[in-house]
Amino acid sequence: MLRRGLFFAHRDLARILDLAEKKKPFFLYTGRGPSSGSLHLGHLIPFMFTKWLQDAFDVPLIVQITDDEKFLWRDIPLDKLGEIANGNIKDIISVGFDPRKTFIFKNTEYMCPAFYNNILKVWKVVTINQARAIFGFVGEDSMGKSAFPAIEAAPCFATSFPHIFGNKKNIPCLIPCAIDQDPYFRMTRDAAPRLKYEKPALIYSTFLPALQGAQSKMAGSDQNSCIFLNDTPNQIKNKINKYAFSGGQATTEEHRRLGGNCDVDSSFQFLRFFEEDDDKLAEIRQRYESGDMLSGELKKEAITIVQRVIGDLQARRKTVTDADVVEFARVKPLDFTF
Ligand code: TRP
Repeated sequence: MLRRGLFFAHRDLARILDLAEKKKPFFLYTGRGPSSGSLHLGHLIPFMFTKWLQDAFDVPLIVQITDDEKFLWRDIPLDKLGEIANGNIKDIISVGFDPRKTFIFKNTEYMCPAFYNNILKVWKVVTINQARAIFGFVGEDSMGKSAFPAIEAAPCFATSFPHIFGNKKNIPCLIPCAIDQDPYFRMTRDAAPRLKYEKPALIYSTFLPALQGAQSKMAGSDQNSCIFLNDTPNQIKNKINKYAFSGGQATTEEHRRLGGNCDVDSSFQFLRFFEEDDDKLAEIRQRYESGDMLSGELKKEAITIVQRVIGDLQARRKTVTDADVVEFARVKPLDFTF
């Protein structure tokens, strides 16, 4: 994902890499707003990358589930959001996280003195004018909405988690996430020095394109734009065959003559995200662009790889239980010493 430029931007990553080199502590923080049904492939990208980072660095990981955020923004009752969140947490666990190294919490459940103190501190230093300028809040928005960004900011600070970091104050964090979360963390980076805390570092991904084309993103609200974690191999095959936008030509003759356009082709974009072998990807591009490979053949490659990625996740998802969700949320020390 790094080589392919899918994680394409960062803030202060060098500082974290210096810490890693010197074997000094830092932690990873990411999150998810509960969304109904199964997570789709686009949601899972930052988590797959986060899993890789955690394996590479062997540091604690904190995952915030913002049931409060979705309560404020969507028309869903809190108890229903709790259920939805549990399903999403199981999907996240299926990416392969280790409960001894990972804390996954819902905001409405974890809210505790240490966490709340940091929320208060952020509230105090960010003005309504700043919040409006950053997030575009208007007078008609509920006051909860303008209060929320501090709740996404607070987990950047180690003191929100005394059960993990004890009384250590300045353990910095690295946040892998999609680029749309940047406003929250620009706000946090601005507030941090005023609270005498470390600024969070960030590494940002682009969005997985929807089946309909490279210029769009997967959105759970449109069943046909997404591959879901619980799609069957057949559904994956049918969705890609039927909906995946093709950069190929209208007829086989034209395609042989002119070749296809990989940059707008959804199947190629899926391969770009999930085909690990650089040489194989380059060969597919060359064959498609020269007209040697037809759209149907390219789709077949994409189907195989997406079925494999989803199949692996599903195999792990089957083993995840309600007790696992409880265990990941348990307020306990993680397997690290600081
Ligand atoms: N706001 C994010 C969403 O809607 C959820 C979230 C909370 C998050 N904390 C985060 C995402 C930290 C990335 C990093 O999904």
